[in-house]
Amino acid sequence: MSETLKAVILYDSMSKGGSTESAINSIGMKLAEEGVYVEKAKCKANADYSFVRDFDIVLLGAPVYYFVVASQLLGALVQGNLKKNLKRKKIALFLICGTPGTMAAVLYLPQLKVNLVGNRILAEKIFSPAMLSNEDAIDDFVYDVLEEYERAMRSRTKLQWTDEALDMLQGLPPFMHGGIKALVEDYAEAHGYNTITAELMDIARSDQGK
Ligand SMILES: Cc1cc2nc3c(=O)[nH]c(=O)nc-3n(C[C@H](O)[C@H](O)[C@H](O)COP(=O)(O)O)c2cc1C
Repeated sequence: MSETLKAVILYDSMSKGGSTESAINSIGMKLAEEGVYVEKAKCKANADYSFVRDFDIVLLGAPVYYFVVASQLLGALVQGNLKKNLKRKKIALFLICGTPGTMAAVLYLPQLKVNLVGNRILAEKIFSPAMLSNEDAIDDFVYDVLEEYERAMRSRTKLQWTDEALDMLQGLPPFMHGGIKALVEDYAEAHGYNTITAELMDIARSDQGK
């Protein structure tokens, strides 16, 4: 890694020193061991999340209480400005619940993912409290996150621009080139395009305000 990767773990839990905090500490320590700069922040639904823009990877983690993902994280996404500030961010998700399994994947993960359409989800994992004492489970999750991040960065360097799209970029004022190029490449990457065409530039631009 040439530049230090920056990750933030946003989480919620009703418990102090419960399994969610223990998961966050283990995941944070493993990321740090791998050379990542890590911060953590407990969510409040109405907090200002503009700070997440400074991070390369955003990990969202929460327990499930009564079939619903913990309310301050969910609230930050649904009512607060977290979703807006996560635009084009690379995300990893982890949940903690008593019964991790297919039902949990079907019932609980979509509560977060429905708010993250258009984001690249690097990895997702559901832990039970018991799984957290297994170092391998945490390590595997962290390796998945970092491998997928590297993969996303590699595929980005392979993006092709058509002549028409390049002409369109060149037609914009020079001070806008960097920002528009990054916006279109992020959009292409999140939606699985390998080639940037003039049409895709229009789509990315019109999608930006949504
Ligand atoms: C009040 C309460 C409700 C819970 N509801 C669910 C549930 O609906 N589904 C589930 O799989 N686990 C449920 N659990 C298990 C928790 O998700 C699990 O214990 C988790 O580790 C709690 O995280 P915490 O220690 O950070 O509070 C519940 C636990 C509590 C205390």
